[in-house]
Amino acid sequence: MERLVVQSPAKLNLYLRVVGRLPGGYHRLITLFHRISLVDRLVLSKHARGFRLRTSHPSLETGESNIVTRAYRLLEKKYPGLPGVDVFLDKRIPLQAGLGGGSSNAAFFLLGMKRLLGLPLGLRELARMGDTLGSDVGFFLHEVNQAVGEGRGEKIRPLPFRGERWFVVALAEQGLSTPAVYREVRLPRRGASLTTHRRVARIAFERLAEKNVIACTEGLYNDLEGPAIRLRPEIQKTMALMFQLGAPAVAMSGSGPTVFAMWDYRKEAQTFAKKLRGFVAPARIRVCHTC
Ligand code: C5P
Repeated sequence: MERLVVQSPAKLNLYLRVVGRLPGGYHRLITLFHRISLVDRLVLSKHARGFRLRTSHPSLETGESNIVTRAYRLLEKKYPGLPGVDVFLDKRIPLQAGLGGGSSNAAFFLLGMKRLLGLPLGLRELARMGDTLGSDVGFFLHEVNQAVGEGRGEKIRPLPFRGERWFVVALAEQGLSTPAVYREVRLPRRGASLTTHRRVARIAFERLAEKNVIACTEGLYNDLEGPAIRLRPEIQKTMALMFQLGAPAVAMSGSGPTVFAMWDYRKEAQTFAKKLRGFVAPARIRVCHTC
């Protein structure tokens, strides 16, 4: 095989609770990741030596700081003499959006390289690389449509969603810095125990497994909404607008600023998207489903 095309989907966090702090400035989370059909595309072409990354995105850094370049460097370190690869990244997932685009790109690049070069990489080894690259990479490496994340978000327990949800996703004009949002988080001095947080989360996940989105509304939750809204008040306005226009289940994804409304059926999502496009720039609205 000389060339491989890989889809790299985005995620939404249907539930995200910050339950404490971890060493190294990170926060301990309990989150529910859900993969959606908003996808980037990676084209990997094998060649003799070296690594080259090109992208359709005008302002995406393609040098050593890019997460895909960093993923290649990890592989190179593990496999000295690794063949070279040219990567073209067709970017549809916005940057700094709370949608895990970069993490997904890194994960599907590693999975693609494993296939393209026949590398003997197991999930455990891939997950170790994922941890070095970023907190959300592990979820995408599991290749499951939904999973619970704990720790920084990197400890993954698959919780496959059997069925298909529909989402109307409202993208923001400008990204939001994840570290900046986490810096705004205020934790209670004496919070609930991890066991209590897990019990509360389990109830939320049961709600979120219900077919009817009305039953799911109580399950949707994101502790980063408040901190993100303090930095970007428009998030609250967009969420309020979605509720006013009749969406029963609305939340922000990850550290924002992307917000979404959840629906059971394609038709409902499409009708809602049409309404929303009367108030928000149509280019910012996407109708997606579980993927
Ligand atoms: O792991 P990742 O590179 O995605 O994290 C970006 C930043 O977000 C971290 O440097 C940290 O400031 C913040 N973060 C956090 N707790 C997490 C995940 C991310 O504080 N669980």
